[in-house]
Amino acid sequence: MSEANKGDLIPPPRFIGTHPLPKGGPNLHKNKPSMQILITCPFWCASLLTKELKRLDLPLVESHPTAVLSEWTWKDIYNINLWSRIANKVYAVMWEDKITNFDQLFDFVLSLSWNTLFVPTSEFSLHASCKNSQIMSEKSLVSVTHKAILTSLNILQDTKTDPDKSQEVFLFMSWNNLKVCINTSGASLHQRWWRTQTWPAPLKENLAVAIILLSWWKFNKPLIDPFCGSGTIAIEAALLAKNIAPWKHRNFAFQQFKNFDFNIWNEILLDEKNSEFNNNYQIVARDIDEKVLGYAKINAQNAWVSDCITFEHQDFQSGLMLFEWDFWLITNPPYWKRLNSNDDLSPLYEKLADYLKECYGWVISSYPWMWKLFNSKHFSHKQLYNWADEVDFYWKKPV
Ligand SMILES: C[S@@+](CC[C@H](N)C(=O)[O-])C[C@H]1O[C@@H](n2cnc3c(N)ncnc32)[C@H](O)[C@@H]1O
Repeated sequence: MSEANKGDLIPPPRFIGTHPLPKGGPNLHKNKPSMQILITCPFWCASLLTKELKRLDLPLVESHPTAVLSEWTWKDIYNINLWSRIANKVYAVMWEDKITNFDQLFDFVLSLSWNTLFVPTSEFSLHASCKNSQIMSEKSLVSVTHKAILTSLNILQDTKTDPDKSQEVFLFMSWNNLKVCINTSGASLHQRWWRTQTWPAPLKENLAVAIILLSWWKFNKPLIDPFCGSGTIAIEAALLAKNIAPWKHRNFAFQQFKNFDFNIWNEILLDEKNSEFNNNYQIVARDIDEKVLGYAKINAQNAWVSDCITFEHQDFQSGLMLFEWDFWLITNPPYWKRLNSNDDLSPLYEKLADYLKECYGWVISSYPWMWKLFNSKHFSHKQLYNWADEVDFYWKKPV
């Protein structure tokens, strides 16, 4: 099938009705399509996540600022968990219903077969998000649901034997439509396997890769991060260029589910291995701090990408740029807020602003005076979040 025809099969964005899912949850033994999947991501990254879904041939059903909804089979769930560089967590929407009051909520949750996917236990975690609905208290939504699940589990005493604290239920209430979702990822997916060495102010891995994707970095061009810290930007760029799955070598919650299919999972892992590219990439990571640079080198070894990153111990203020001006500068410079430093950073940022007159650059930082240096005529700006901190993202407008 041609790419164009495949595109035609993607349905337009739409809302799914209020009672589409059978109360027993999705068919667990077949790869049955048309169940929903809720994927969370950092603020402002939903469009990048949508592009990833397209690459995996999955439709977009709904888009929210920090999440997208798509449709899935179990194979898709495995694939997204392994391949998405942007996602925080991948939830399977198991059940949904129209809920307008707490009695309805209790009865609905009680009626669900909690033993469908995993062995039920009271050791689960519950989270909720409410938008534009009659029930707007997330706390009450969680507490009533919790009571109903416990009541349901008492009925199912014989299956209550395998406590697994990593199982998470997420309640997503929007326009009185409650979706009961199960976390298929486990721990947040931004926690890559390669980060064994950390540093006080690391960039979240999925935010780093979001910036690289937004920069449209061409893999055959040099990429430089003059303030590399633990190496997040350089390592994620190398993984992207080499087409190595970002979540390789970690365990996922779906591997604990009753219906986990080893054969499909092994096929997906084999495909991943065969899809690796190997070219000559020019990725340069520099830092003034030799110890931190050592951490970055170990992290790059863990990710098997040391061969395409050149690490250099260099002070940005005295160092020379390479590659004439034909390179991508993507960086997260120091800023006092996270590093508890009282150094005067203005000369460093002035020099950075000077460099950026000559080359393309993408800079993310919480340094409060950046707006003075990065003038709006030449730069675009967006406020983002690294962990809970507000960060400014500036990038040079194309000329
Ligand atoms: C915000 S941290 C970068 C964190 C990195 N993005 C990560 O994910 O780990 C800024 C880095 O800039 C380095 N740095 C500070 N002053 C520098 C200078 N003059 N030249 C080069 N690096 C410098 C610090 O050692 C620190 O590692």
